[in-house]
Amino acid sequence: MSNKIIIINGPNLNLLGEREQSQYGSLTFEDLKEICIKKSEELGLILEFSQSNIEGELVNLIQDSRKKFDGIIINAAAFTHTSVAIRDALNIFKKPIIEMHISNIYKREEFRHKSLISDVVTGGIFGLGVDGYILAIISMQKLLKNEN
Ligand code: DQA
Repeated sequence: MSNKIIIINGPNLNLLGEREQSQYGSLTFEDLKEICIKKSEELGLILEFSQSNIEGELVNLIQDSRKKFDGIIINAAAFTHTSVAIRDALNIFKKPIIEMHISNIYKREEFRHKSLISDVVTGGIFGLGVDGYILAIISMQKLLKNEN
């Protein structure tokens, strides 16, 4: 059964609850991790929740996911707008990928309007706050169920 998923978070998301609360809300990274693990368990998914501030570590996580996970939910944070390496790594992962953003990147500075990964992922969620992670987990479960 395809039920192993990973949520990959990029730079500064470890400081959720502290950074720009008007954009990202007051929930901490640890709170978010707990909520996501609980929701995944409810849906019969095994979740790994990860974060790195380092681009190369994110590329390694995505590459390693090929063998270990059935789906990726990724909030690449600032690297969304800059990283060809993360895009290329995602493009090699031939299973469902959901792009996630807490804020509405299209309502913010122009440099955030461009995502280098949107056209290599299955679908995306943005602007719905941290609830977007829960929606992404629900969608991922459906995508994996439809594959079987
Ligand atoms: C973000 C949006 C990015 O533009 C920003 O650099 C982040 C978080 C979001 O979740 O809204 O760090 O990906």
